[in-house]
Amino acid sequence: MILFKSSSLLVLLLLLTITSLANIPTTNAQCYEHNPLKISDKELVECPLVDDGDDEESLKKRQNTSSNSTQMFQIKLTCGISDRAICAKVNTAFAAAGTIISATLNLKEPVTVNATFIDFCKSMGDCGNSGFLTLGAAPARTIPMQDLDGKQRFYPQALVKQFGYTTHSSYSAYDIVAMFNSVANFWFDGDPPIRTSQSDFLFVIVHELVHGLGFTSSWDDYLNDVPEALTPDLGGTTKGSRRQYQFVEYAFDQYIVVIPQNKNLSIYTDQENVFSKGTGNKYTNIDDFAQGFVDSPQYAVAKQLFNYATTSNSLGFMPRGTKDPNDAIILETSLNPYQQGSSISHVDYSKYTNTSDFLMRYLQDRGVSLQNAVLNGGDYKGGAIGPQLKSVFETLGYATQDNPNPYRPSPPSPNSKTDDSSSSDAPKFNLIYSSLRMQSLLSIIVMFFAWYITRD
Ligand SMILES: *[C@@H]1O[C@H](CO)[C@@H](O)[C@H](O)[C@H]1NC(C)=O
Ligand SMILES: *[C@@H]1O[C@H](CO)[C@@H](O)[C@H](O)[C@H]1NC(C)=O
Ligand SMILES: *[C@@H]1O[C@H](CO)[C@@H](O)[C@H](O)[C@H]1NC(C)=O
Ligand SMILES: *[C@@H]1O[C@H](CO)[C@@H](O)[C@H](O)[C@H]1NC(C)=O
Ligand SMILES: *[C@@H]1O[C@H](CO)[C@@H](O)[C@H](O)[C@H]1NC(C)=O
Repeated sequence: MILFKSSSLLVLLLLLTITSLANIPTTNAQCYEHNPLKISDKELVECPLVDDGDDEESLKKRQNTSSNSTQMFQIKLTCGISDRAICAKVNTAFAAAGTIISATLNLKEPVTVNATFIDFCKSMGDCGNSGFLTLGAAPARTIPMQDLDGKQRFYPQALVKQFGYTTHSSYSAYDIVAMFNSVANFWFDGDPPIRTSQSDFLFVIVHELVHGLGFTSSWDDYLNDVPEALTPDLGGTTKGSRRQYQFVEYAFDQYIVVIPQNKNLSIYTDQENVFSKGTGNKYTNIDDFAQGFVDSPQYAVAKQLFNYATTSNSLGFMPRGTKDPNDAIILETSLNPYQQGSSISHVDYSKYTNTSDFLMRYLQDRGVSLQNAVLNGGDYKGGAIGPQLKSVFETLGYATQDNPNPYRPSPPSPNSKTDDSSSSDAPKFNLIYSSLRMQSLLSIIVMFFAWYITRD
């Protein structure tokens, strides 16, 4: 019997989640809310379609083409420490991060961030004996959208807003939730020269906001304590009154290929879902589903994916319009053992160090300010958002000056034909494992900032 790796709190959460799923009528759209501040504070929400077509204000906004604002990030900062001078620096850094990202992206709708800067030990009792959490950022809500291949994938709310559909799932108040541990050894602009033990706060938040905007793969080991097999996130589909499980990708995942074969990871998702739609179909309990998957022939596919994820230069992100694997952006698959949250959802560390695309490596340069990192990378005109990262954004669906009309997935239509159903009763996806996913997002952070473990 496989038990999902998770604290008992998460197991409890999972059970609660499943229970609540069962009660939700299939006609309502369902989204997930993620709160990195407290893992238990994550819930399945109904996000019924709303139509703001008649709303004059929003019509004006959509017709507003002059989206050349440097300040399209709206940050609500809760600064829970008594040092007001540091709070002011945190605030300034957030504004600067928003300006940096807004300079590359033509955001049509503002991105709202609920940011918290507190002492985790005092506020959350997370005082860590062997280490402590430094920060976390995640999309506040992820929303299913339908891609050109007919598959539904989960998109971060910040991106869904940019698509500008008048009828859309209802949004949560913020697009991104982020939290930062005030006891970490952060350096702020204006401080004395950065020391080798310090980390530029601006560097950290730009990196984290990029994750919150959608630079996140769902491929991970959701099954084992010691990772050995990878799947996309596990979604629950509700068909009529019946619950079924299926692997579901995030927006980012559809562009990942195996190098050099140039084989699309979505093909592996399909292969793993052969189980979900076949023998896996009968399971109504998530642990049974997992055990069944481990025992199935499709588990070999998951193990193969794990091999790719731990072999250098095996996975790449293909920007839209590219076909040659030489044009792929190399993802982090050099870490062995596999590191949850660090592997795959970052760019290759050694390839992109001291290049203009340094930002999304899994380790930050200690003692190097963001500004100096940009200089070391060749002083790219786009600053911290390098050319490859820009093409990731464009591929996901963010507009830029060079690419004003990016790809746009469709809102999931109730009548859309999905790959496992020819009936009009299309499955509705929910991310069942988001709580576990959050756990791995948080573990990124532990990896990413492993050097915070000793504070000076
Ligand atoms: C149009 O966009 C500009 C720049 O983004 C912004 O300052 C202005 O408020 C917007 N106007 C409306 C009506 O939304
Ligand atoms: C935005 O406008 C400023 C001046 O108004 C200009 O310098 C800058 O190049 C513009 N940026 C974009 C992305 O259009
Ligand atoms: C924003 O984050 C704070 C935690 O600092 C939380 O208490 C609050 O509920 C959040 N607000 C919303 C609207 O999610
Ligand atoms: C990946 O496969 C899907 C079909 O499953 C296809 O629509 C998409 O274009 C492929 N992407 C790449 C980068 O080859
Ligand atoms: C990156 O550049 C910095 C500054 O020039 C240098 O100190 C460092 O050794 C370089 N790192 C690598 C891996 O080339």
